[in-house]
Amino acid sequence: MRKIALPTLLAAGIAAAAVTTSTQAFAYGAGDFFTRVGVAKVDPKSDNGDILGGTDVNVDDESGFAFTLGYRFHDKLGVELLAALPFEHDLQVEGVTGGSTKHLPPTLTMQYYPLGGTDASVQPYIGAGLNYTRFSDEETDIGASLELDDSWGAAGQLGVDVLINDNWAINAAAWYIDIDTDAKVGGADAGTVEIDPVVVMGGISYRF
Ligand code: NI
Repeated sequence: MRKIALPTLLAAGIAAAAVTTSTQAFAYGAGDFFTRVGVAKVDPKSDNGDILGGTDVNVDDESGFAFTLGYRFHDKLGVELLAALPFEHDLQVEGVTGGSTKHLPPTLTMQYYPLGGTDASVQPYIGAGLNYTRFSDEETDIGASLELDDSWGAAGQLGVDVLINDNWAINAAAWYIDIDTDAKVGGADAGTVEIDPVVVMGGISYRF
C-alpha cells in the first residue's frame, strides 16, 4: 500500500469535515433548535364584546418583549412555543369604568416550512396550534372587583426567517389567537370578553 503523507491525509480530513459541517449547518431544517427574540405588539380585535348586559368593552393594544423556543424534528416540520413577559392591557367598560389586566400568552404551534431542507435564504413558515391565557392583576378604576377566567383557544401563525448566516436570521412573525374570557364584576357573571388579538413580532432568530 502506497504511503500517503500524514499532512496530506490531515488536510483532506479537515477539508472533508469542513464541507460536511458547513453543509449540515447551512441546511435549514431537521435537528435545529431555535429561538426567536423580539418586540411583540398584542393588538386585540376592535370590538371586545359587551358585558353587564350590553355595555361595550374595549381592550387596548400593548407592546413588549417576547421570545420563542422551538425545534425542527423534520426539514419541513417544527414546533414552536411563544412566550413573553406578562402584557398589561388597559381596558374600558364604556361609561362605567376603566381598568387593566395582565396576561401571559403561551402559544404552542406545529409548523410547516415549505422551503425547509433547501438552501433558500428566505424561509417562510405557517403554523397552527393552541393558546392558553391566564389573566392576573385585573383592576377597575371604581374599585369593583374584576375577574377574567383562564382561556384556551386556537392559534394560527405566519412567519419568515431571512437567513444571515448559519446561525442568525432576521425574523418577522404574526399570530392570530382566539382568546375569549368570562368576566365577573363584583363577583357576579358579567358576560364574555373577546380579546382575539393579532400578535406581531419583529426580531432575530438564532438556531443551533
Ligand atoms: Ni374569540
